Amino acid sequence: MSTTVLIGAQWGDEGKGKITDILAQKSQVVVRSQGGNNAGHTVEADGVVYKLHLLPSGILNPETLCLIGNGVVIDPKVILGEIAQMHQKGISTQNLKIDARAHVIMPYHIALDGLSETSRGKGEIGTTGRGIGPCYMDKAERSGIRMWDLIHPEIFAQKVRDNVGTKNKLITLVYGGTPVDADAVIEEYSAYAKALAPYVTDTTVPLYEAIKAGKTVLFEGAQGTLLDLDLGTYPYVTSSHPISGGACTGAGIGPTLIDDCIGVAKAYTTRVGKGPFPTELFDEVGERIRKIGNEFGTTTGRPRRCGWFDAVILKYSVRTSGLTKVAVNKLDTLSGVGRLKICTGYQKGGEIITEFPADLSELALCTPVYEELDGWDEDISGARRFDELPDAAKDYILRIEALCGVKVWMIGVGPGRDQNIVR
Ligand code: GDP
Ligand code: IMO
Ligand code: MG
Repeated sequence: MSTTVLIGAQWGDEGKGKITDILAQKSQVVVRSQGGNNAGHTVEADGVVYKLHLLPSGILNPETLCLIGNGVVIDPKVILGEIAQMHQKGISTQNLKIDARAHVIMPYHIALDGLSETSRGKGEIGTTGRGIGPCYMDKAERSGIRMWDLIHPEIFAQKVRDNVGTKNKLITLVYGGTPVDADAVIEEYSAYAKALAPYVTDTTVPLYEAIKAGKTVLFEGAQGTLLDLDLGTYPYVTSSHPISGGACTGAGIGPTLIDDCIGVAKAYTTRVGKGPFPTELFDEVGERIRKIGNEFGTTTGRPRRCGWFDAVILKYSVRTSGLTKVAVNKLDTLSGVGRLKICTGYQKGGEIITEFPADLSELALCTPVYEELDGWDEDISGARRFDELPDAAKDYILRIEALCGVKVWMIGVGPGRDQNIVR
C-alpha cells in the first residue's frame, strides 16, 4: 500500500528491469512514465531472459496492472512485437493499458534521428536511433501524433499528411535524405492501430483509483539521472525526464501521491553513447568489467563504456530525485578486479568540488579524486545476506553509503531474481 518511483541513478542500464521485476511481485500496478524503446530492461526470471523496451517489467506478473503513461513515446510496431513475444511465451497482456495521450513514433522520426546524428558528425550524441528525440520535438512543438489520433483513422490520416509535407522538406532539403510516403505510412499504421486500439485508454484514471484504493504502485523509470533532458549531461542526454519528478508529469499524478523514491545504481559506472564520463577507464580494468559484466547495450548491442563508481553522481541523484534508498547492482562483477577506486569529488583548478557541475564546460575542467579500497577475489554470486560478503565488499558498500548519504538497501550479486541481498 504505497507508491514508489524507481529511477536509474547514473547513465541508464543500472539494472532497473531486474529490481522492477522483483518489486513487481508485490505491486498491483507498474507504470512506465517516460522514454520509449530507447530503454532496454533485462529481466531474468525462472531461467528465461526477457529484454523489454516498452512493456513495463511488471508484465511477467499476470495479476499486475501495467500502465504506459502519457509521457512515454510509442513505436507501434515495436510494442506489438513485444506483445507478440509475450504471447509466444504464454504471458498475457490483458492487463496492459496505454495512455491515449502518449505520442507515437513515426517513420520520419526514425529517419530524422539518423539524419541529424549523421549531420552532427563528430559531435553526434550517439542516440539509440529509435526516433525518440524527434518524436519529443514534435510533442513540444505541438505537431505530434498521439495514441488517440492513431486509433481514429480520419484524424490520423489528416495528421500524417499535415506532418509528412513539412518533414519531407526537412528530410530532403536540409539533410538530403529519402522522403517518406504518406499513403504507405497511413496504410502500415492503420494495421497497428487496429491491433493496439483495445489497449488505449486514459491511464490516469485507473492509476489514480488504484492509489486512492491504497494499492501498491511502482513507477518503473527508464534511462537515468545523467540522461535527463534538464539535469543530465546536456546535450548528451535523452529527450525526457528520467528523474523522479518525471513520473508525475509522465503518468499524470501529483507529487503528494508519491511515498518513496528508490535509485538503482551499479557498483561501478557505465555509459552508452557519447558525452563526458569523468571516471571512464581505458585500460584492462575497464575491459575486464565490460567482459565480466557483459556490458553491451540491451537495445543497440553497443559496448558500454565502463569506469569506477562515482559518488558525486550518486549524491547528485539522491538530491535531484529525493532518493530515500538505493539498490547497488553488479557487485559480483567487481570480484577479482584488484584494488578498487571510488571517486569522492572532482579536482577543479585549486579546489575540490563534490557537487556535480551544471555545465559540461565546467565538468571539462574537473578530474576525479579517488579513494582506494581493498578488493576481494571471492565469487559472491551465492551470497544472500550482507554478513556473507567478504569484509572488503561490505566496506565498499558502507563507503558508498557514507559518501552519498543514502541507505544501500539492496545489493545485486547476479542477474537472477533471487541474486540479491536485502539489508
Ligand atoms: P536497465 O536498463 O536499468 O533495466 O538495465 P539493463 O537490463 O539494460 O542492464 C543491466 C544488465 O545487468 C542486465 O543484463 C541484467 O540482467 C544485469 N544485472 C542486473 N543486476 C545484476 C547483478 O547484480 N549482477 C550481474 N552480474 N548482472 C546483473
Ligand atoms: P535504459 O532504460 C542507457 C542514451 C543513448 C544516448 C542518449 C540519447 O535501458 O537504462 P536517445 O535514443 O534516447 O535519444 O539517445 O541516451 N540512452 C540510454 N543509455 N540506457 C538507456 O535506457 C538509454 N536510453 C537512451 O545511448 O547516449
Ligand atoms: Mg538498459
